[in-house]
Amino acid sequence: MTEVLHKVVDELRQGEAYLPFREDPNVYAKKFYIESYGCAMNFSDSEIVASILHTEGFGATRNLDEADLIFLNTCSIREKAEQTVRARLHTFKKLKTEKPGMLIGVLGCMAERLKAKLLDEEKLVDIVVGPDAYRSLPALITETEGGQKSVNVLLSRDETYADISPVRLVSNGIAGYVSIMRGCNNMCTFCVVPFTRGRERSRDAVSIVAESQSLFDAGYREVTLLGQNVDSYYYTSPDGEEVRFEHLLERVAQISPLLRVRFSTSHPKDITDDVLHTMAKYHNICKYIHLPVQSGNTRILAHMNRTYTREWYLHKVKRIRAIMPDCGISTDIITGFCSETEEEHQDTLSLMDLCRFDMAYMYSYSERPGTLAAKRYEDDVAEDVKKRRLTEIIELQHSHQRVSYQADLGKTFEVMIEGESKRSENDWSGRSTQNKVVVFPKTDQPLKKGDYVQVKISSATSATLIGEIVG
Ligand code: SAH
Ligand code: SF4
Ligand code: F3S
Repeated sequence: MTEVLHKVVDELRQGEAYLPFREDPNVYAKKFYIESYGCAMNFSDSEIVASILHTEGFGATRNLDEADLIFLNTCSIREKAEQTVRARLHTFKKLKTEKPGMLIGVLGCMAERLKAKLLDEEKLVDIVVGPDAYRSLPALITETEGGQKSVNVLLSRDETYADISPVRLVSNGIAGYVSIMRGCNNMCTFCVVPFTRGRERSRDAVSIVAESQSLFDAGYREVTLLGQNVDSYYYTSPDGEEVRFEHLLERVAQISPLLRVRFSTSHPKDITDDVLHTMAKYHNICKYIHLPVQSGNTRILAHMNRTYTREWYLHKVKRIRAIMPDCGISTDIITGFCSETEEEHQDTLSLMDLCRFDMAYMYSYSERPGTLAAKRYEDDVAEDVKKRRLTEIIELQHSHQRVSYQADLGKTFEVMIEGESKRSENDWSGRSTQNKVVVFPKTDQPLKKGDYVQVKISSATSATLIGEIVG
């Protein structure tokens, strides 16, 4: 199960996969089907959409044939992500001819980027709703049932859906996402997110802690706090108290030592020693940081408007390792960004050698219309060069990852059981605090999902540790 979830999450990051919702246990007169693409934020949003639709009498189904409403929660991050969604829309065409009353809606980042164009281009789309307008869905559905097409792609400065309790339909009942902020103010030149999700805003800290507490009360043992740049979380309570990310982390960690706390994504310019010390102080804040570097070359980083240098990034990694020597670190890398030379590509490889990431998401640059890079720079690195550089980066990462996993042999990790192993019902699967998947045989002990065990590692593949329960 864990491996399945991991695979799904990995694929989500590629913007290519989808996960149909789990069947809704309740009985509703009308049914909706939703597929989500893109990042965890989109998946979390689909749970908010499900909650809004529930109050209107719609239940989730994973059976397309019985759906009255089909939604695609879409991603624009790379061209390929959009192509996947377009292809999917075309496969719905046939269904729609067989069932004319069925409505098809496009939600999320593509809705924002393409707006009403989607209604014209893909003639089968009835509803287009952007990420800040989900509260208007019920009204738009009613309008559309009257024969009209409807669009709401207004971005908001303050919508955080703080009061909406998400319906956890994609979860394993143990690990859940909690969205802590929306939008992004960073304006990395390659990135479409500031345009599709608008300005950054932080959600009320009290509602975040309450949602995490209610997940814990319902048996969840892990929450992942989500935002495009969690380190810039900043909320002022009505009585003037300032809540920064390290304070929020602490409050969520204090719910229970049995509740694991993770977060994503950190920005190298914003992550502070205060956050690192808070992580070190609480055993249940997982020792794992996803810290996207994008490039190892300072000129390219400036072109990307990442606002840090190679040296700054290396310093941050040093601080993480100084404060938490056992912390897992992963990253995102874009290769072949506008004007990147061979030497600059070598800088990315050498930075990887210095950091030795435990995991990385690696992409070749995909120009996105409307971004600053699309306006200012030429996408001038040839496709075959991008491809070759990406292969070099992936191969180097794989070799680092092999070393990282081999180095765990003989060590003992605390693992939270997330379910049975995908490969065998005789094995449990969970993750270490460093976010590595750990698989181990079941014993006579009466264990269940959400329990913590100590596992001594005896072998490893390139992405899984294998061991036995000790103690
Ligand atoms: N907020 C996060 C990233 C969100 S997008 C951060 O700042 O780290 C996830 C990843 O997609 C980015 O880290 C980047 O590596 C990749 N990405 C974004 N835009 C891209 C583009 N135009 N081409 C290729 N990869 C891109
Ligand atoms: Fe995009 Fe940069 Fe914001 Fe991340 S920080 S979402 S890469 S603009
Ligand atoms: Fe994609 Fe939007 Fe997330 S563009 S990566 S779904 S914020």
